[in-house]
Amino acid sequence: MCGIYGCIADDAAGKVLEGLRKLEYRGYDSAGLAAIFSSSESTPIETEKTTGYVSNLVSKVNGRFDGAEISIGHTRWATHGGVTDNNAHPHSSVDGKITIVHNGIIENATSLSSRLANLGYSLSSETDTEVIVHLLDHEIKTQSDDLSILDAFCNVISKLRGSWALAAIVSGHEGILVSRSGAPLVIGRGEGGISVSSDIQPFYGACSEVAYMSDGDNFLLTTKGIVAKKDSHVPAFEALEGVYDEEDPGNFPHMMLKEIHDQPTSLSNVLSGRISSDGISAELHGFDLSPSEIRKLERINLIACGTAYYASEIISSYIRKFTNVRSEAFIASEFPAKSVCSPNTLTIGVSQSGETKDTLDALLEAKKYGSNISSLCNVIGSTMSRMTGNGAYLHAGPEFAVASTKVFSNMVAAGLLFALTISEATNSEKKKLVQDLRKIPNIISSQLMDMDESIEQATKLILENGPPIFIGRGGFSSYVAKEGALKMMEISYIPCISLPGGKLKHGPIALISEGSPIVAVVPSDSKLNLMETSIRECKSRGAKIILITDSEGPITELADILIQTSPTHPDLSPFTHIVPIQLLAYHVGVAKGVNVDRPRNLAKSVTVV
Ligand code: M6R
Repeated sequence: MCGIYGCIADDAAGKVLEGLRKLEYRGYDSAGLAAIFSSSESTPIETEKTTGYVSNLVSKVNGRFDGAEISIGHTRWATHGGVTDNNAHPHSSVDGKITIVHNGIIENATSLSSRLANLGYSLSSETDTEVIVHLLDHEIKTQSDDLSILDAFCNVISKLRGSWALAAIVSGHEGILVSRSGAPLVIGRGEGGISVSSDIQPFYGACSEVAYMSDGDNFLLTTKGIVAKKDSHVPAFEALEGVYDEEDPGNFPHMMLKEIHDQPTSLSNVLSGRISSDGISAELHGFDLSPSEIRKLERINLIACGTAYYASEIISSYIRKFTNVRSEAFIASEFPAKSVCSPNTLTIGVSQSGETKDTLDALLEAKKYGSNISSLCNVIGSTMSRMTGNGAYLHAGPEFAVASTKVFSNMVAAGLLFALTISEATNSEKKKLVQDLRKIPNIISSQLMDMDESIEQATKLILENGPPIFIGRGGFSSYVAKEGALKMMEISYIPCISLPGGKLKHGPIALISEGSPIVAVVPSDSKLNLMETSIRECKSRGAKIILITDSEGPITELADILIQTSPTHPDLSPFTHIVPIQLLAYHVGVAKGVNVDRPRNLAKSVTVV
């Protein structure tokens, strides 16, 4: 979380504002900017900051920073201290000659601030970041004359514990000091100068080359390039090709709705080239271990967070179903690496951004205990894909809305391809499934055209009758239900629970009263009869049933509102059943007046633990 952009170029501040706009998905609690107009003079650095969006900052700046030579900026997702102008970055030294932006958490901020208090510094914000600027101020003022500004910076960095991506500027010095440890930072170069950013997206069209910083790197960026301390590793620049996909909802009112409707295309993309020409087998390449090596492993761990975790639960069900390898999905922040990792295991990180710190940390733990690691990621060149060096991309295209939709489906699709690739199921078993999988993009496309009326009724029921309970049963629908509850919560702020239908009677059924909405995910699979029992238990206590099913059988008679999905192979039901759930969450969020693309307190990429 938090986005950093810095630049040395003509119109540096304008470029930083543009960079921040493209990084806003990383945090939108507040935004701020600092600039130096002439590096030859030692005058206070100009800064501006505000709560809210980058557009608020642009209005506040109102052209005042035009002509700046060096600039850094920040979009914040608050960790330490409330969402206030004062806690917004950048943070400056008392004389205004040093200013800093930070993404991450300084874990020893409290002890460092006591040390600073003894040196006569007092903090003016509630952030953990502010200690860094005062430490740097002290270091520069007290270091011997033969040491450089980079020496001072490195000395300060050596005192920090936690995670950070940092950029700092110092009045009277040409350059931007940058440091990376546990949070992403990349350097871009082009005709327009040199830049630093939390990810490469803003570099498309602005830079021709990119250099990826590694944890432990501390540099001074100048117009001449990267300045490092003697014997330090300096990343090489490589050509950057690609275009920035503008966050453009087109004819849709929101990015989230557009991305839900992108699914036929994004699913085609994840399948493309990954099904053999005879249509029999799946071929998900990119893993260091061959299918036969993977089959011999003791277990396959999947680690992920949020939506990616629910997709991973479905993926591990596929692996268990189509192979004899033991497989389990774990919430990355709870990963018990010591008990489930060894050289005879594979641990796969599943992530849209490839920057989720909990997942990255869990992968490092897995590696520490000898596990092979790989990843299923959407963002090309992300920290996770570079850390693992093998795995497969999800090819969903950029996902801008904070609520993940199309990437969930692509994760499930890539996971199914993976399970089928390593499976020893017979060709005839695989063929039916693979052939039906190929039809999924078209099926989703026609579903998206047909669904509006029932979703509208379900939206009304939830708005009028209060929090829904999502239920499913078995390895697929109970995780689709969980993903539904997460989606509804994050974009409508309605507290939702989800659980396997069989669990209701052991306590949660106490929540049901006259009119309580139940969203029942009921694919035509082996659990259909058991789901019928769960639904009847709810109905007899007055619940209203929003039934999402591809069945046309008697179960539909239990629906108060029926959302009919297209029939497909039972193993493919997550694709058809998740779409109406995403639409339902979207419509409830919109009806409640929530900014569904940027819901409160969230960020698209969670780079803190
Ligand atoms: O980028 P990742 O897939 O690693 O992100 C994981 C979660 O933070 C993410 O899925 C989050 O739960 C979404 N907001 C859900 O819509």
